[in-house]
Amino acid sequence: MAQGVEVGIIGGGLMGREVAAALARWPALQDHPVRPRLTAVCDTNPAALEWFDRIDTVRLKATDHRQLMEDDRIEVLYIAVPHHLHEELYLGAISAGKDFLGEKPFGIDCAAGERIVEALRRRPGLFARCSSEMPYFPGAQLAHDIIRSGAVGRFVEARSAFLHSSDLDVTKAINWKRQARFCGRLGVMGDLGMHVLHIPLRLGWHPAQVYAVLQDIVKERPGPNGTPEPCDTIDNATLVCSVEDHEGPFPLTVETKRIAPGETNTWVLRVVGMDGGVEFSTRNPKTVRRFAVREGRQMWEHLETGSQSVFPTVTGGIFEFGFSDAILQMWAAFLDELAHGREGMRQDFHCATPEEAAATHRIFTAALESSAGSSVVAIEPVRV
Ligand SMILES: NC(=O)c1ccc[n+]([C@@H]2O[C@H](COP(=O)([O-])OP(=O)(O)OC[C@H]3O[C@@H](n4cnc5c(N)ncnc54)[C@H](O)[C@@H]3O)[C@@H](O)[C@H]2O)c1
Repeated sequence: MAQGVEVGIIGGGLMGREVAAALARWPALQDHPVRPRLTAVCDTNPAALEWFDRIDTVRLKATDHRQLMEDDRIEVLYIAVPHHLHEELYLGAISAGKDFLGEKPFGIDCAAGERIVEALRRRPGLFARCSSEMPYFPGAQLAHDIIRSGAVGRFVEARSAFLHSSDLDVTKAINWKRQARFCGRLGVMGDLGMHVLHIPLRLGWHPAQVYAVLQDIVKERPGPNGTPEPCDTIDNATLVCSVEDHEGPFPLTVETKRIAPGETNTWVLRVVGMDGGVEFSTRNPKTVRRFAVREGRQMWEHLETGSQSVFPTVTGGIFEFGFSDAILQMWAAFLDELAHGREGMRQDFHCATPEEAAATHRIFTAALESSAGSSVVAIEPVRV
């Protein structure tokens, strides 16, 4: 019998709605040990709450998050609010004793991220994870497994990138993600960085130093009345990191871009080594490319992955996997780990931890310093 869990969402915007829809598709999971019920939602904007009328299980709609924090029946929170509010709301959830999945970057800056991690250390019974769904694509999982198996041999180089072209349109109106006081000085690194560092950090690749090229390409955008307003966030970030491996250092190139012409939501991981290589891009969601030298010839071959990720679903294996499937898989992993702990999980690719989120902050803070001084900057090691 699956264990029932009441879930509340704080922040009913783009991601709040996405997660509500993923939870509504929960029966698509075959035999998951937990059955979540979305029963409450909070948004300071009453208009945002109206969308949730379509979710029959929602019994509480609130404009003040404290109503959810104080509700004893709600066990798990999903918190998806602008970055300047992460610290206040995550610390609020911790004081209220709620387990939660918090959105990245898990604090507007490194100091906020550290304070959240520290507050969690003082409450060892609480379970908190950072949202990062792209590694749950079946192709990303296969690439991760190939790299971890050692089949690639000594690493020669790696690239992990998340590429959008959402900001190519210079007439697009400004919003909180394009203003440093709400989004943070990290800009696009805070927005997309957890997604690109999740697998590298999980592989134990902790960059020792970084050289960063950061670009604020579009400096003004139309405000609510059409008047141009400062758009002071970093649009594109390219980081060349040095990773110390036991066989020697190798370069890891990390790219997060809002202006990557021709790309929509492309997440790509490419690793090559002395014995092989692997590449997966969500541009071709069904295919993993694998490199090998056979009979003296260099070969890239295509492996077709199908729709099934780590938690099996009713969807036929011949179909395609997409963004909303990745959200469902991430929640399946989150609730499995919540119910059974790391050791008892049905698979071992757990959600990003608060410490991993803190590690991304250190890397991106060093990137800011690198860009400011046009220099290579050492990255403070972090325990994950
Ligand atoms: N995992 C992903 O793929 C992904 C994608 C996009 C955004 N995000 C992250 O999700 C978070 C939210 O982004 P979004 O795109 O949903 O933003 P959004 O602007 O669409 O939604 C944010 C919502 O929070 C509400 N809000 C603001 N202050 C609040 C408060 N004090 N209490 C309750 N609600 C409040 C706003 O009214 C808004 O409806 C950010 O951390 C962002 O980085 C993650």
